[in-house]
Amino acid sequence: MTNFDHGATTVSSRALGVLLDSWRASSAPGYLALADRIRLLVLDGRLPVGTRLPSERDLCAHLGVSRTTVTAAYAALRDSGHVDSVRGSGSLVRLPARSSVPRPTTTEGLLDLTKAALPAVDGIAEAAQRAAGRLGAYLDDPGYDPVGRPVLREAIAERYRLRGLETSAEQIVVTLGAQHAIALLARVLVSRGDRAVVEAPGYPHAFEALRGAGARLVPVSVTVDDGWDEAALMQTLRRTSPPVAYLMPDFHNPTGATMPVDQRVRVLEAAAHEGTVVIADETMAEMAIDGRRDAPLPMAAYGRAVSIGSVGKSLWGGLRIGWIRAERPLVDRLVRARSAGDLGTPVLEQLVVAELLGDFDRVLEARAGHLRRGRDRVVRGLRDAFPSWQVPSPAGGLTTWVGLGAPVSSQLTLAARREGLLLAAGPVFGVDGAFERFLRVPFSYAESDTDRALAALRAAWDGVDGVQAPVSPLLAEVV
Ligand SMILES: Cc1ncc(COP(=O)(O)O)c(C=O)c1O
Repeated sequence: MTNFDHGATTVSSRALGVLLDSWRASSAPGYLALADRIRLLVLDGRLPVGTRLPSERDLCAHLGVSRTTVTAAYAALRDSGHVDSVRGSGSLVRLPARSSVPRPTTTEGLLDLTKAALPAVDGIAEAAQRAAGRLGAYLDDPGYDPVGRPVLREAIAERYRLRGLETSAEQIVVTLGAQHAIALLARVLVSRGDRAVVEAPGYPHAFEALRGAGARLVPVSVTVDDGWDEAALMQTLRRTSPPVAYLMPDFHNPTGATMPVDQRVRVLEAAAHEGTVVIADETMAEMAIDGRRDAPLPMAAYGRAVSIGSVGKSLWGGLRIGWIRAERPLVDRLVRARSAGDLGTPVLEQLVVAELLGDFDRVLEARAGHLRRGRDRVVRGLRDAFPSWQVPSPAGGLTTWVGLGAPVSSQLTLAARREGLLLAAGPVFGVDGAFERFLRVPFSYAESDTDRALAALRAAWDGVDGVQAPVSPLLAEVV
């Protein structure tokens, strides 16, 4: 049983009508076409598990169909396990129990594309040598460093200032990567049973960290084309007044979406009104591929937000350096709480990062070039090989969130494994098993690995039969 909770977010007839779009285009009987379209929205996470559907009466009035059509559609959804009717609570979205996809036990000899990550940027070894030369000045104290060396805190603050956000070194806590930052914030800001707003799809290790702190996750939909479901996000904030909302406003992982400035302002206003701390994970923010002339400023420039950053993508994951940018009182709480889990960030790695931050624009340019070549190769390769898939070409980040056109992601990743390729299936990025119609494909790997992966995917796709148990055969028609 997953510990998510939705605070009974309700989708209005109007909002559902918009999501249903052209459901009538199907030649199937009306109730089946309606049920299939709603089922699709559930499978894709557009209607997160726990969402309350409109009453039958409201929906039939809004859609201009008979009550019988809606009643039969809801009954069909109950039969297939996509809706629960709970006395007094109405019709709540759910997903049928599914057999879990076996996790690989050994990855030896397999090409592992489950991570959106890059090899180290050029120049790390040289920076490490320079940093080692400076280490002597740090050896007289015991070296336990829960907040970060001043030289690095200042370099990180300077980077924020260059990006347009006034920041002092005292606002920075250096952490063991962004993952540690998420976990530390969760530990300090979340109490057992609290709700936490997250994105669906989203970053699975953030879900783990928040759940680890006792949070019940409340998902809000993000899509490649439409970005954040703002109405649902606002409603969720209002209804649940969660202590935290964890968002990835720039090159959202996995969709690649970036939150527009005006939406940032509205979301931060709504969150402030509810006393919700917005945790903006900006790990991907500097991973632009096509240049970011009109890029939004960091989230905290538009209201109250705690930011997370990392050099895991820009420099190297192996350095394990990230940070939190927060106001001083929270910085103090974080530093005090830290000793329960770790006693500080290694000094030498901090010095290496401080060296490289001095030349960061050059580093980012090199990264953008690498990612552009990778993205274009993967996108072209996938579009050529799989004309029925929807393959976005994102403006930044490390992955493309591919629409497969059918709920076969788990099946495909299992078949790919037999071809020697490991990929994370779409449901890995949901909190409740949705996203079977999607696959996250990273484009950050070397050309030879990308080509091997494309060949393995082609072979794997031939073995996918396109039909999955909980989906009615009609679904193919409405996709
Ligand atoms: C959105 C997001 N946040 C955090 C992390 C973790 O980063 P780090 O390696 O700095 O811990 C990742 C890594 O994939 C990520 O994609």
